[in-house]
Amino acid sequence: MPGFVGWRHSLGGITYLLFIVLVVTGVLLSFYYRPSVQEAYPSIQYIVSEVPLGWLARDLHVWSANLIVVATLAHMARVFFSGTYKPPRETNWVVGLLLLLVVLAFGATGYLLPWDQWAYWTVTEVLDTMSRAPLLSILASVLRGDVMVSGATLSRFFAVHVILLPWIGFALLLFHFSLLRKHGIAPPPGEERRSGTSTPFFPNHLLRAFITGSVVLGLTISLAALYPRAVGDTANPFQLPRELVSSWIVVDVSLALIRYLGVWGFSLFSALGIVMALLPVFDRRPERRWRKRPVVVGLGLVFFAGFLTAWLAGRQLRSLPPSTRLRSGEGVEQLRTLEAPVEAPRSDNRRSEARGAEE
Ligand code: HEM
Repeated sequence: MPGFVGWRHSLGGITYLLFIVLVVTGVLLSFYYRPSVQEAYPSIQYIVSEVPLGWLARDLHVWSANLIVVATLAHMARVFFSGTYKPPRETNWVVGLLLLLVVLAFGATGYLLPWDQWAYWTVTEVLDTMSRAPLLSILASVLRGDVMVSGATLSRFFAVHVILLPWIGFALLLFHFSLLRKHGIAPPPGEERRSGTSTPFFPNHLLRAFITGSVVLGLTISLAALYPRAVGDTANPFQLPRELVSSWIVVDVSLALIRYLGVWGFSLFSALGIVMALLPVFDRRPERRWRKRPVVVGLGLVFFAGFLTAWLAGRQLRSLPPSTRLRSGEGVEQLRTLEAPVEAPRSDNRRSEARGAEE
């Protein structure tokens, strides 16, 4: 291994480790989870209260879904500030961006699966917002598959979450790692021409991988054990909840942007993300030292610091009532004209209820 490879290069590996944790815990959860309006909620109750270590699999899954977003963005920031997205690695930057989209799509589609009031109404709100934007409205109606969030939506989200995204994710990872192998890891900026030293894979790199892997796994397990995701009441399309408790970092960030800066703030921030994504197209100078790239580095700082600030601000807003539009009844009245919902049991985390609902 090249001698310059250090701790900062562990971020991609950490992201990969979290991806594997998500896949393993996701497979375990799918042994018991049932993707239907009547069974989704009780099956989650059953997993967390009855299945041996089911709570651990479930909360490891939820926490990894949060941490992988942080790890992916940190890895992306490392690549961004060191100018590693420049030729010949620009294709790998684009593949990385697609991986980021896959990570976000995993979280978004998984969000509905618990089928509790928080999941149901957050997804209703997001799809409602999307359906008012050009182009996104088409995606919203394909995802919803019905006039309101219903069993059809749950089936679609589940299929995308457990079939489509894993295949796309693994294919992209294969491509990402092949390109990495082809170009090698980039030397530090300004040292491209130096031949450099090398350090042995064993024990140096293996030990570093072992330490980072253990710390990340230890942290994820501790967070899962100490802060399990609460379960709200079972989804009821005819009753708005008093609050929407968020359990995913991207929801926190979006909430903060929309509530503090409005839709325009949210759109501007997304536009900045898109500009950064397209950087390799117009920033092709070989210069990689960050001091010589003030504009690009400034953009990156605004984006990553903005994400961090929005996340911290969003954490203060974690349990908010649904938006004014939904509260004003615009959405609910429309729903009331539709058929009555299928009766689903009330929440209370106990075995008898979960079993009773399954019978
Ligand atoms: C599931 C998501 C991802 C995984 C598992 C992953 C994994 C990795 C790994 C293990 C490496 C080598 C070590 C390192 O540089 O940290 C790497 C390198 C790289 N990644 Fe990612 N990555 C992901 C997402 C991304 C994203 C979002 C981007 C940028 C938009 C990106 C761009 C790159 C580039 C350009 C390299 C080469 C870096 C260099 O040569 O120094 N990756 N990735």
